[in-house]
Amino acid sequence: MTQTNTQVIFKSRPEGWVSEDNFDIRQSELPALEDGDVLVRNIYMSVDPYMRGRMMDRQSYVPGFQIGEVLSGGAVGQVEQSKNSKFSEGDFVTSMNLGWEQFTRVPGGAMLMPVDPSMAPLSYYLGVLGMPGMTAYVGLLDIGEPKEGETVLVSAASGAVGQIVGQIAKLKGCHVVGSAGADDKVAFITDELGFDSGFNYKTVESLGKALGEHCPKGIDVFFDNVGGAMLDAVLARINVRARLVECGMISQYNLTKPEGIHNLIAMVGNRAKMQGFIVSDHFDRLPAFIAEMSGWLRDGTVKYREDIMMGVENAPAAFVRMLKGENFGKQVVQIGDDPARA
Ligand SMILES: NC(=O)c1ccc[n+]([C@@H]2O[C@H](COP(=O)([O-])OP(=O)(O)OC[C@H]3O[C@@H](n4cnc5c(N)ncnc54)[C@H](OP(=O)(O)O)[C@@H]3O)[C@@H](O)[C@H]2O)c1
Repeated sequence: MTQTNTQVIFKSRPEGWVSEDNFDIRQSELPALEDGDVLVRNIYMSVDPYMRGRMMDRQSYVPGFQIGEVLSGGAVGQVEQSKNSKFSEGDFVTSMNLGWEQFTRVPGGAMLMPVDPSMAPLSYYLGVLGMPGMTAYVGLLDIGEPKEGETVLVSAASGAVGQIVGQIAKLKGCHVVGSAGADDKVAFITDELGFDSGFNYKTVESLGKALGEHCPKGIDVFFDNVGGAMLDAVLARINVRARLVECGMISQYNLTKPEGIHNLIAMVGNRAKMQGFIVSDHFDRLPAFIAEMSGWLRDGTVKYREDIMMGVENAPAAFVRMLKGENFGKQVVQIGDDPARA
């Protein structure tokens, strides 16, 4: 029987909230390889918030998706066929440019990186040992510059980036507070990950009051994954020389009109610093990140939670549920058999 390739196609641009109707599923033939090419059998793929930005028709730091094309993003898989001397059949590899599909042809093997399945489960290379983990590492350490005894607040604290930020901040001797959108997520960050405290931003009486209670000494470092009302409430409670690490603003990604921020004046009197960053500008930090993070995972200092959905055809549902906050931990999609986990 001829092997086919199940693929997720970008069908239409979302206006406001993205839905599964913006995607289509298609069966294609396996692509033929040219010299230098590698065919990867994807095992796990990642759905990430930045992909929502790629669905807009606008200039950005990463090219937008075009209607009718297969969506692409981070995945980890195994080399199925190789016409490239650097890769052999059976090698485990990852890249940010694999597809929402069972098999991806990688011209010239470009951007493929080998991964070691004996070091960690393969899916970890899409999370704690991959782009989100590195985002937490460089965002907190290089931009947030946390110091022992300072208060670090992280939003979307149980997610892919947030859960790692809080644990690194604890390692640096900080008082760590997280906000998340469900009581079980708050229990996870405090009881299992060792955050000092946390609150459910959806059920507190007011964000300002909750921040006052959980950050009684004010906020020195805010690792912002969410933007919007939380950022505004945080601004009113920052300390002198606070650092606001602008990692993402997921509360705004599905709005047709962004919310306004009212408390920016607090930056002035507090001589505070607010800096956005994109993890791909910091690849020089990859070796240090991998060395430290793999050590922390090995000795159990850092814990990691992922939320795995099965089947490439469910990738759109996984993407939508992650943006709605229904994921608990890093959202990945398992596309095929994982020989390393069997
Ligand atoms: N700058 C970079 O290079 C870079 C790289 C990677 C990620 N990011 C950013 O980092 C952030 C987190 O990404 P991630 O991959 O770790 O995702 P994630 O936290 O694993 O999943 C997204 C979470 O965002 C929260 N959320 C969704 N809508 C929200 C809203 N309206 N208000 C508050 N929280 C909301 C939900 O958690 P709750 O249940 O807690 O609401 C949801 O689970 C995103 O903003 C992303 O764009 C930036």
